[in-house]
Amino acid sequence: MILNPELDLTLRPMKYPQFFQLYKNSIKNIWTTEEIDFSIDYQHLRDKLTPQEAHLVKRLVAFFATADNIVAHNLVINFYKHINSPEFRMFLGKQLFDEMLHVETYLLLVDNYIPDPDERKDAFTAFQNIPSVKQKADFCFKYMDAIEKIDKLDTDEKRAQFVENLMCFAGCVEGLFFFGSFAYVYFLRNKGLLPGLATATNWVFRDESMHIEGAMLALDSIRKEYPQIFNAALETRITNMMKEAIEVEMNFCDDALSQGVTGLSGTLMREYLEYVADQRLVQMGFKKIYHSKNPFSFMVLQDVQPLTNFFEKRVTEYSKGFDSSRGSVSFDEAF
Ligand SMILES: [Fe+2]
Ligand SMILES: [Fe+2]
Repeated sequence: MILNPELDLTLRPMKYPQFFQLYKNSIKNIWTTEEIDFSIDYQHLRDKLTPQEAHLVKRLVAFFATADNIVAHNLVINFYKHINSPEFRMFLGKQLFDEMLHVETYLLLVDNYIPDPDERKDAFTAFQNIPSVKQKADFCFKYMDAIEKIDKLDTDEKRAQFVENLMCFAGCVEGLFFFGSFAYVYFLRNKGLLPGLATATNWVFRDESMHIEGAMLALDSIRKEYPQIFNAALETRITNMMKEAIEVEMNFCDDALSQGVTGLSGTLMREYLEYVADQRLVQMGFKKIYHSKNPFSFMVLQDVQPLTNFFEKRVTEYSKGFDSSRGSVSFDEAF
């Protein structure tokens, strides 16, 4: 059973080949920060951005500066500990690498965007000092702390608490907070601004989409093995958590757009967040609650972009013929 409080290290016979396959897919998306060029962004920050847009960027950077570290922490202390599948732990290993890459990306971003050492320090302590960013961190820590003392998932009540933590981080943190921030970045990209940030965000977006997919896949197995956990009480709790996440993100929005950014508004952002929240709820097996439409055409385009790039071709070619989820070689004429 996937939530058994033990350490399964046996990969043969493979119990969850779907996780292994996802791990294999995820390592096709490896990139490094050396491939990102922030130099044009720096010019834009200096000469092109309005003070209102600069304020928005400052808030985004403040959120990005620590968000991936928080996600990574929960990954290690909760996901890795409680999901008893060696295949899924392989996927989590890659996800942890991704999160460290995101941390490094935003470190580089802050260094490039904020030359002044004191201001830079402020960006890294934003999760403690800037209320709208702090509120997002507090939300994460609340759901992380809620299961901190759970050592073993030996009752349905504890399993449901873990599922709530999983849904919080996949549905609300990676699935909503990050997507809110991506929307601001793509809004700026649509105006021809900050190409370095846009490139980095393309790659982070792709990684985050896969992290969400992984968590949803884990949830599918948990649901099959412990259907009794997924009851009306859980749906109510998760729906309320999602509503809470939207308010936290809207508070950030009110701050980020407090000086007024032409073309963006709190109303549009709320509609977008509701649209994303509905998608997450459906992915987690629940009903939509908002029925909002996506107001951002630039995000519709983003959503349908295939999760592929030139790395994929290279790795696919290298690995073809060997189905390692089954442990068999499937070359025909070559052998
Ligand atoms: Fe991340
Ligand atoms: Fe992530």
